[in-house]
Amino acid sequence: MSAHSSSAADQDTAQSVRVELAARAYDIHIGTGLLAKAANYIGPLLTRKRVAIVTDTHLAELHLATLQEALNASDIAHDTVVIEAGEGSKSFSQLETLCGALIDFEIERDDCIIALGGGVIGDLTGFAAAILRRGTRFIQIPTSLLAQVDSSIGGKTAINAAQGKNLIGAFHQPDLVLADMHVLTTLPPRQVLAGYAEIVKYGGLGNPAFFDWLEQNHQAVLALEPAAVAQAVAESCRAKAAIVARDERESGERALLNLGHTFGHAFEKLTGYGEALLHGEAVAYGMVLAFALSAERGHCSSSDADRVKAHIGAVGLPITMAQIGNGKFEADALVEAMRQDKKVQAGKMRFILAQKIGHTIIADDVEADALRSFLIAQGAHS
Ligand code: GLY
Repeated sequence: MSAHSSSAADQDTAQSVRVELAARAYDIHIGTGLLAKAANYIGPLLTRKRVAIVTDTHLAELHLATLQEALNASDIAHDTVVIEAGEGSKSFSQLETLCGALIDFEIERDDCIIALGGGVIGDLTGFAAAILRRGTRFIQIPTSLLAQVDSSIGGKTAINAAQGKNLIGAFHQPDLVLADMHVLTTLPPRQVLAGYAEIVKYGGLGNPAFFDWLEQNHQAVLALEPAAVAQAVAESCRAKAAIVARDERESGERALLNLGHTFGHAFEKLTGYGEALLHGEAVAYGMVLAFALSAERGHCSSSDADRVKAHIGAVGLPITMAQIGNGKFEADALVEAMRQDKKVQAGKMRFILAQKIGHTIIADDVEADALRSFLIAQGAHS
């Protein structure tokens, strides 16, 4: 299917989700071929017909021309900054370069900066927009499945510090999110699978019917069949939008979106935040552990924990420690990584545990010794 077509099949995938945040409310549009039609959505938001585009070296080759042609066809002037692809670009030096370029482009507060890319571009551009002229408008066009279902929504923006990931940032909501199913077709299968882990998360944390649906439809979603993947993205966006609307700054319920993340971040840290373990893969295994710990502590049935593990394993995501990195982890090193997690409050580790599939709770009563024993039972070394 061409990105430029507007067939009946394209219409079938079209859905919209509103993030209800009063003066900061915005729409997420989900559909096939939206990049080629981007000006239809962006045009009405502009106070003057000019924008800046931020993308990376990889996506510039794949998708930039489609966006630029769409803007040209609607007489929307554009300047583009192309950032080096990769996590290393979430740095102070790239932020400085990007802000300098946007000032040189004479981007004003009411102009829109378009982030065309995955989580790195979205996080960096969003943070630049948050601080440029004390807050400039921005638009997310997420190009990875993970960004479409998670990082482009909800206004978390950040760069990394030497001490850890995402430690310097701001909440800054976009004015619009365009999730085009067509751009997903250029993703490597491993990236699709990593994004799928965040989709499963929404079923696990709050929507058992969606978890059932994923058990039935995961093959179509992972094959990127437009209607199935659009349905999965839209359901994920609805779940996240509802939580963000109730708790924009993570003073409570938003923490549930971190299901699988306390465990996952520890494995990411010990494997060096790289190709050895993608974030979504870490979250998938983290969910297996979160449900297993929930079952061990009597919060949820072992049949629900087994069901989560079975689904995550069935799609090809990791379900055992042996499948992570070189498979060798010291329990103490894992516990230490979890004690340094961003979510630690007053020295207490915070886990998102489950009472059943679709019902999660925040637990801060997991002691280091119990955690250590649990991890050893899961395959870590003492
Ligand atoms: N990714 C978790 C959140 O946006 O809150």
